[in-house]
Amino acid sequence: MTPRRLLLSGRLGQPVAVALADLLPQVSVRVREHPDSDDVGWAQAYTGFMWPQVPGPVAFEWVHAMGAGVDDFVDHSSQIGLLTRTIGGMPERMGTFVLALLLDHAHHLTAYAEAQRRRQWRPLGPAPLPSRAVVLGTGQIASGIARALGLHGVHVTGVNRSGRLASDFDTVYPWRDIDAALDGCQVLISALPASPATKGIISDTVLGSLRETQFINVGRGSTVDLSALQSALTRGSVVQADLDVFEVEPLEAASWLWAHPQVRITPHVGALSTVDDVVEAIATTFAELARGVRPPLHVDLEGEG
Ligand code: GLV
Repeated sequence: MTPRRLLLSGRLGQPVAVALADLLPQVSVRVREHPDSDDVGWAQAYTGFMWPQVPGPVAFEWVHAMGAGVDDFVDHSSQIGLLTRTIGGMPERMGTFVLALLLDHAHHLTAYAEAQRRRQWRPLGPAPLPSRAVVLGTGQIASGIARALGLHGVHVTGVNRSGRLASDFDTVYPWRDIDAALDGCQVLISALPASPATKGIISDTVLGSLRETQFINVGRGSTVDLSALQSALTRGSVVQADLDVFEVEPLEAASWLWAHPQVRITPHVGALSTVDDVVEAIATTFAELARGVRPPLHVDLEGEG
């Protein structure tokens, strides 16, 4: 199956379409900011960050997610023949993003920016990078984080469902042994996807067992129980929360998170997909489909959830 009619949406739709015109001249493309029923009826394949919001039945032979997260598509799995996603340079970018958060903390860069606003010259002591980090999730994005931290001498423990060892991690624990995994954890980083199984999984049980830990969430917002996070910040089990993802985005203006002195908010920018990432993923998947090969970027709609 190699689709001949591809519908593109999302912020990268136009530049991806321009690049694909050269690489896949046999494919007709439509780019739409807001696809309508006619567009989805015409298309055999679709690519975007979100499932198109149109009334009536929608089904595609192939859907390519422009991002690494597929939660919006998994909800429509019965309407999708094949689902693939973009990885490209995202693991490396997520690794450097998380490293930047840790380095900012270690080198007091935010404190110096505040001191500068007050015209204060106030050197703070050197603070090393943490020696131990725990990453929730061990998929490709999580591995990018483990690689970046490992290169800076941080011992990285991963946590996944089965406890199966994953490359780039020093140790991996299964979720049922989360207490042991978190023992001595200085930084807890979540790269978990959104799914019914991960909803609120970063709960009091997880956050309450930490001690003066920095918590970083670059996975999905729905995985965090925010009242458990608030208590953890009050009790000091979490001393700093760096949150890039939220259950509702943009984060509501009324959220307590905005004004909390130990919370840093970034607007879901940890690892943005680039035009090159998406174009390469679509072109290689297209070539694999033409050869009858199961694309490595294929998402298991049964297992991913
Ligand atoms: C970002 O969150 C993505 O899904 O790529």
